Parts: sequence; C-alpha cells; structure tokens
Amino acid sequence: MNKMILHDSSIRHATGQAIYIDDMPAQENLLHGALVLSKNAYGKLKKINSSKLLKLPFYSKIITAKDIPGENDIGPIKKGEPILAEDMITYYGQPVAVVLAKTYQEALYASSMVDVEVEVIADPILTLDDAYQKKSFLIDPIILEKGSVEIEMKNSECKLSDNFEIGGQDHFYLETHVALTFPGENEEFTVWSSSQHPTEVQHGVSNVLNIPAAKIESKVRRLGGGFGGKESQATIFAAISALSAFVTKQPVKIRLNRHEDMTATGKRHNFKVYYNVGFSKNGKLNGLDLILLSNGGNVLDLSGPVMTRALTHLDNCYYLKSIKAKGYVCKTNTVSNTAFRGFGGPQGMLVIENILYNISKYLSKPLDEIRKVNYYSKVNGLTTPYGQNVSKPRINKVLRQLHKLSNYSGRIKSVKSFNLKQIHQGYPFRKGLAMMPAKFGISFNKPSFNQAGALVNVYSDGSIRLNHGGTEMGQGLFIKVAQVVAECFKVPVDQIHITSTNTAEVPNTSATAASSGSDLNGMAAWNAADQIKKRMISHIAQLFKKSKSDIIFYNGRIRAGKNSMSFSELAHSCWDNRISLSSTGFYKTPKIHWNQDKLYGHPYFYFTWGAALSEALIDINTGESRIIRADIIQDCGKSLNENIDIGQIEGGFIQGLGWLTCEELVFASNGKLLTTGPSTYKLPGSRDIPRKFNVKLLEKADNDEKTIFRSKAVGEPPLLLAISYFLAIKEAIRASGLNARPELLNAPATPSEILKSIKG
Ligand code: MTE
Ligand code: MOS
Repeated sequence: MNKMILHDSSIRHATGQAIYIDDMPAQENLLHGALVLSKNAYGKLKKINSSKLLKLPFYSKIITAKDIPGENDIGPIKKGEPILAEDMITYYGQPVAVVLAKTYQEALYASSMVDVEVEVIADPILTLDDAYQKKSFLIDPIILEKGSVEIEMKNSECKLSDNFEIGGQDHFYLETHVALTFPGENEEFTVWSSSQHPTEVQHGVSNVLNIPAAKIESKVRRLGGGFGGKESQATIFAAISALSAFVTKQPVKIRLNRHEDMTATGKRHNFKVYYNVGFSKNGKLNGLDLILLSNGGNVLDLSGPVMTRALTHLDNCYYLKSIKAKGYVCKTNTVSNTAFRGFGGPQGMLVIENILYNISKYLSKPLDEIRKVNYYSKVNGLTTPYGQNVSKPRINKVLRQLHKLSNYSGRIKSVKSFNLKQIHQGYPFRKGLAMMPAKFGISFNKPSFNQAGALVNVYSDGSIRLNHGGTEMGQGLFIKVAQVVAECFKVPVDQIHITSTNTAEVPNTSATAASSGSDLNGMAAWNAADQIKKRMISHIAQLFKKSKSDIIFYNGRIRAGKNSMSFSELAHSCWDNRISLSSTGFYKTPKIHWNQDKLYGHPYFYFTWGAALSEALIDINTGESRIIRADIIQDCGKSLNENIDIGQIEGGFIQGLGWLTCEELVFASNGKLLTTGPSTYKLPGSRDIPRKFNVKLLEKADNDEKTIFRSKAVGEPPLLLAISYFLAIKEAIRASGLNARPELLNAPATPSEILKSIKG
C-alpha cells in the first residue's frame, strides 16, 4: 500500500475545482433563504411581523415554525430542539424564520425587514456560575466516582483547592453551514448538506416534514471543514431548507454568512472547574474531588456525551486512586454548544494537567517529576476510574522517541540560561518549556454508534465504485478507505471511484466523528470488497481448474499458476458468467460495552498515545506570547497514510493552540456574541505556526486490536497536545518573578490573562 499518497481532492481543493454545495449549478427556479435571527436572549415570542415584505419590489416569502407539517424537533438525543423558535426565544441569534427570494442578496435584505416581537420575562442566564447557583441544568449531573475521596483527602499530606476556566471555541470551518434541497415527485426530497451525519439529516428532515425516511435522500460530497460543528447542527439548516422546499415546491438553498454562522451555531463547550486535590509530598495523587461545569447552552444537543468524554479523559495517563467528579451540564441562554474536535476530552485533560502543574509549583518540583510518580504502570495500577484496563501503556515508548526528537534535556538547560540572562540584563523576555503526554480513547461512548456500512460495485470494465457511510471533511477519510479497497483487489488506487456519501446507497450510518471514520468505514469497505473478491476467486479457480489458494491478486492482475489476466478481464469474465460484482459490507466494533448510569465499562476499543514538547516565549511587560518550537510524536499504529496523518497532527495541534491562546468568545450582557468574524475573533495565522515544528509518527507502532491494517485513529488526539504550549506559557510565567502565579492562568491564555498571572 502506498502510504504517501495525496488526498484524492488535494489538486481540486487547490485549484478551486472541488465542488462545494454553494458551487453547485443553480437551477432556474432555485430560491435562496436568509435567516431571521432573534435579537433577544430570553423571552416569549409574541409576534413575527412580516408585513413589510409585501411592499418589496421583488418576490419574497417567509417561512416560520407554523409551516412545519411534522414535528419542530431535530434533537439528536433528547426531544424539544426546534429548528425555528416557536413559543420561546432561548438565546440571542436563535433562528426565528427564514425568508426566501430569487437571489441571496434579496433574501438577505428581505430578512432584515422582518420584526420579531419578544416579551422579556427574566434576565438571561449567561455564565456558568449563574447557572450553577440557579440550578439551571439540562440533565442530571453525570458522576464519575471511584474509591473514597473523603478518606483519601483526610489522609493526604498536602492539599490544594482552587478553580479555573476553560474557554469555548468556534469551529471556523472555511465553508459555513449550507444546505440545498430538491423536491421530487411523490414526496421525494433530495437534500445536499454540509453534514458529518447524513443519516441524522435524513431523520431530521423526515421528522420535520412527517415523511418516511425512505423518501428522503441525504447526500454529502464533502464539507469545507466540520470539526464537530456539523455533527448534529447541520441538521437544523438541512431541515430548514427542506421545509422551505416542501412549502414552495421549489429547490431551496440556505447558506449562512460568517456572522450568522458564528452567532446561530454551537461551539466547543466552555468549562469552569472547581477542585480539591489531596497528594503526598512527592506529588502522588490520592484524592481528586471535582466539580465540572460545562456550558450546554439553550438545549442539550450532544452535551451529555461531551461531558462523559471529559470525565473519562480526566485521568489522561495517570492512575487515580480515588476520584469524585461531578459534571453539570448547565442550561444557559447562549447558543447550544456541540461537538468540537476532542469532544470534551481536551477539557478533561486540561483539568488534570492544570492540577498537576499547580501541584508541581506548590511542591517546587518539575512537572515531569510529578507525572512520573502518577503514570499508569504495573506498580501504580492500570485500571481507569471507569473500569477499563490500560493493558499496555505506550507512554514510555512515546516519551523516549520525543526526548530524542526534541533534545529535551539539552533544551531544559538552554531555556534556563536564557531566562537567567534576561533577568540579569533586565530584559522582558522569558521562555518556558513543557511537555504533554496524552492518551485518548477511540470509539463512541455509546456502543450502538460504533457500526458502519459500505457498498462496493465492480463494473464489467474493471472499474470500481466505492460508497460508505463516512463523510469527507478534509481529513482524508475517502482516500484512506479507497486505499483499503485498492489493497483488497491489489489494483492502483485511482481505479477506485470515490463517491458522495448517500443515505440511499448506504443506510443507517453513524456520524463521521470520534476519529473513528477510517476504523469503521475502512473495515466495512474491506468487508464489501472481500466478499466480491471471494466470488472472483471461486470463479477463477473453476475457470482455470486450480485450487482457490493458488489464485493470486497482484499489480492489477490475477494469476492462477501459469494463467493470468488483468483485473478488468476478470471483471468482464465474472459478468459473463453471471457472478454478482456488487456487495454491501458491514462492521461493528467488537469488545466494547458501557454503563452510562454508573459510568463504568469498556467504552474504548483502544487508546492512542502521543506527546508534545512546546517552547513558549513571553513578554512580561505586554503579556504577548509566541510558540518558538514544537516537537510531536503521535501513535498512529501502522498508519494507513502517513501524509494524511502528519497533516492531521499539524492541523489539530494548531487548532488546539488557537483554542488555548487567542480564540476568545466575548458575549455582551444581553447575550449577543460580539466576536462574529476574524476581525474580532483572533484565529491562529501562518505566523503562529512554530518556526521549528517537528512532527513524527511513533516508530515501530502497532495496534494490539484488529483495526484496519492495525492502524490507529488520528483525527482528534493531536489537538490536545497543544496543552503542552499552555503549560509552557505557565512555565514562562513562573520564570517571570517571585510574584508570578501561573495557577491563575485561565484558557485562553490571552495577553491580559498572562499579565494577570505575572503580576500575581
Ligand atoms: N480535519 C479536517 N481537515 N477537517 C475537519 O473538519 N474534523 C476533525 C478531524 N480532522 C476535521 C479534521 C474531527 S472533529 C474528527 S472527529 C475527525 O477528523 C473525523 O474524521 P475521521 O473519523 O475520519 O478521523
Ligand atoms: Mo469530531 S468532534 O468527533 O466531529
């Protein structure tokens, strides 16, 4: 298998030939929709006044919740999540109506003519502390408990307690939410959307229109980035476009502009954490007593599972003797927060790393020393607080390779001498160096999501068409799955035709999420291709009077003893002999089970491992920071595609840097998001990439579990390695002077946060 092959669409991405939904040729009767968003965060929806539309010199039509023939609900887990507000407004920016017109500009103008009357009945809840005090929660607390924290705390030599905040993050995919619906005959609808979860779009549309799922074809060729933001929420806009097409009997496209997208769609959950920790003088953790508050927003969406993943990643690479962690999903009057790369895992891991860091400062010891006494090991223990065994921790192997790659010990010395020089000369710069080890669990926590289907057709000319339930959002899933099929038939990968995800071809699929796209769909596609291959082998064996074990597929040909033919000749011969050349494939992840009530079981098929070392430079007068260098080792098992994996690691890490340093969501006191574009929401730019950026896959890696070719998932885990940079900033702050209090640093570590911690 060629592990260095390019992304199948890379040239088309770069040249503008890749077709996104907004590029699809417009039909003559196409209508464009623009949303009417609420300008209140909380209140009763009294009236939607659209009388001004009648005076406009062009066609326009307003669609509201009253036009919905079915249920006004697309809740992925819990019912009661409307696509358009009905009785209540529950956040600033909530879609209230959509206005259709023949051009997008007309629709946008017309939408601004609609007045929404809201009766304000109470102040909105906008902060986590406010929600916690008012007991405003979306679900009962999710509790992870092991051992007796009380006793362990009592018996601990040292104790610390404090709190800190972790900011949210906008996905800022380049392509904003978009959907295009074509109505057909007999209540058929074809819905194109930018969704990570075409099956959920199909269900959402079916529910809203009250039309059976079999009549809804949900299609996705590619997303211009999803990052979790289009896992559940794309369904809202797909359903609005389908509703509009249902009412007008015309094709309708809904495309959000950046301000609308940032205002009206969910983000990474911001968290606030209160902790008490008991530990020994050498830093060994005895008891961890935590309250985690996450901002669920106005409705639940995926916030439950996000909290569960946060709680099951709190341990990171450390054995916890006792823990009680209560996770509260707060109901607030902000937009409903959703999946975002790591799905709560990064927040959970930042919690433990922050606590370990603060212990290291308290004990005046290096952070790595504190980690060393706590790592999962035979001596410390190998069972996670949720009962899954970490049978073979890979952390030592990863760290050995990271030390070599980064010259860690040498760098510690040079950073120390840099700081001494700066202090001596009265200069304002300080450096910090910090490492981040990481373990990440692969699988959806809910076992039923861990299934996938595929459909492989071989045509009589030998060309192969591949379809599966995964979606392509830039992460390289399509090429990886195509490589799997090519490997099965031993044909060049360009003989595999990659097609749009389509619920009419492969039904009942899971979201492409939890980094498990290639694990699941790769296996399903292999299963489909292998069935065809087996039929081919039987046919050839009969034809050449050989035994099946004599048939060899190689280099686009088939050999049986002295006989040989090309793959296309074989395909034609199969057709000629009436052998089916089409097969579905299916896969379900083995070994996993999970009790969500007790938060106990074996939720993850396996763990991936990684580590990063980051070097930070800060200016203690201005609080500005720069990443000087990063070194990363990531375990991808036996990588399916090293090019793609390296790209995922680089991209994930930089996205993590944005979350932890510069991306700051600012809400006004009326609940309006003020940072709705790149001018006010600072994204990492090209100059925020470390000048020295060494990214390597773990050498001699494998997967003990039988994944596709023993590869490992890569989509999310690298993001949380950016925590190394957050810790490096804390180290630089620590070196800034005696008053410095790095424990005060909240995420994102903006200049003002850094200054606050320097001054102590
Ligand atoms: N990479 C790109 N380029 N664009 C994306 O939207 N999403 C990430 C990750 N990498 C994303 C990405 C997220 S949140 C997940 S869960 C995985 O890709 C999903 O794809 P996979 O399961 O095929 O890795
Ligand atoms: Mo990724 S957050 O699981 O879509």
